[in-house]
Amino acid sequence: MQNNKTVHALQWTGSALKVLDQRLLPEKIIYDEYQDAIGVTEAITTMRVRGAPAIGIAAAYGVALSVQKYYAQSSHWREKVDADIELLAKSRPTAVNLFWALDQMKAMLAMPLDNPPAAILAGAEKIHNDDITANYKMGELGADILSGAKSVMTHCNAGALATGGYGTALGVIRSVYKRQAIKVYAGETRPWLQGARLTVWELAQDGIPSTLIADSAAAWLMKFGALDWIVVGADRIAANGDVANKIGTYALAVLARQHGVKLMVVAPTTTIDWAIDSGNQIELEQRSPNELLPACYNHKDSLVSAWNPVFDVTPAKLISAIVTERGVILNPAEQDIRSLKNAI
Ligand code: MRU
Repeated sequence: MQNNKTVHALQWTGSALKVLDQRLLPEKIIYDEYQDAIGVTEAITTMRVRGAPAIGIAAAYGVALSVQKYYAQSSHWREKVDADIELLAKSRPTAVNLFWALDQMKAMLAMPLDNPPAAILAGAEKIHNDDITANYKMGELGADILSGAKSVMTHCNAGALATGGYGTALGVIRSVYKRQAIKVYAGETRPWLQGARLTVWELAQDGIPSTLIADSAAAWLMKFGALDWIVVGADRIAANGDVANKIGTYALAVLARQHGVKLMVVAPTTTIDWAIDSGNQIELEQRSPNELLPACYNHKDSLVSAWNPVFDVTPAKLISAIVTERGVILNPAEQDIRSLKNAI
């Protein structure tokens, strides 16, 4: 199933989780090994691993590591695993895949299990493999929609690095590139530079050429009619089709509407939060001002501060298509995405 050429950000070694440190890309390719849930929590918090589906998968392996560690040690192993699950749940707030994956693991732990370490690890591996399968499915569905398009732009990194493998938005771009020539633009994605450091690197690993632009150049690119589609991933989709994604997605959606460019959101159904009716209910992570501030302002008497929200919400009415592994919703403001809830 997996494309061996495509980078794998998360790898299970048999006893530990190997995580590609995305803070160091593209200069260095370094994998760290995590033996427990505390380590996995730290890997998520510090963004060694990032991207909604990858965060959920890493957390699932974190629970597997917790069971592996405590099951043989103590008859109170379940309490210790519960404490680790709580810790993992605090690692990042916006990507719902984290909470979805932890709920899956909790449901498994609530069942009678002959061999809990083996069963919970199998559960984590299934979450990982199902995500890859979903990405390939979405790749084909999204490529069908992009048929004949001459150019796409993506934002942030919604690729193999951000998922179990292959990617959501980049999965669609990979799939369409196999079928036809297409020009790919990537926004640099300030301040963390997921586009400049990760997306263009990941595409180059697969031999797919891309053109990097400053985020602020997107409007001008659209003005010249150089763009047909914007294709992005999502961190959380509300039941009304509003989409939380990397900061700057909303700006691109507004610009796209002004210039007649279409916006596609590609995300597995594990990214849909059926419990919330609107994007207004999504907690949007604020990260440290130091990710933005030049070091000289980073002291307590500084007159310069920074506001650093790392996600925004794009209303459903600005989205042309939401692509999931269960099917496509065109114009989600008009076609209810709830029809996907029980689809297979
Ligand atoms: O802060 P990050 O890098 O974790 O943000 C990631 C994104 O916003 C992605 O676009 C989203 O998680 C989709 S990844 C398939």
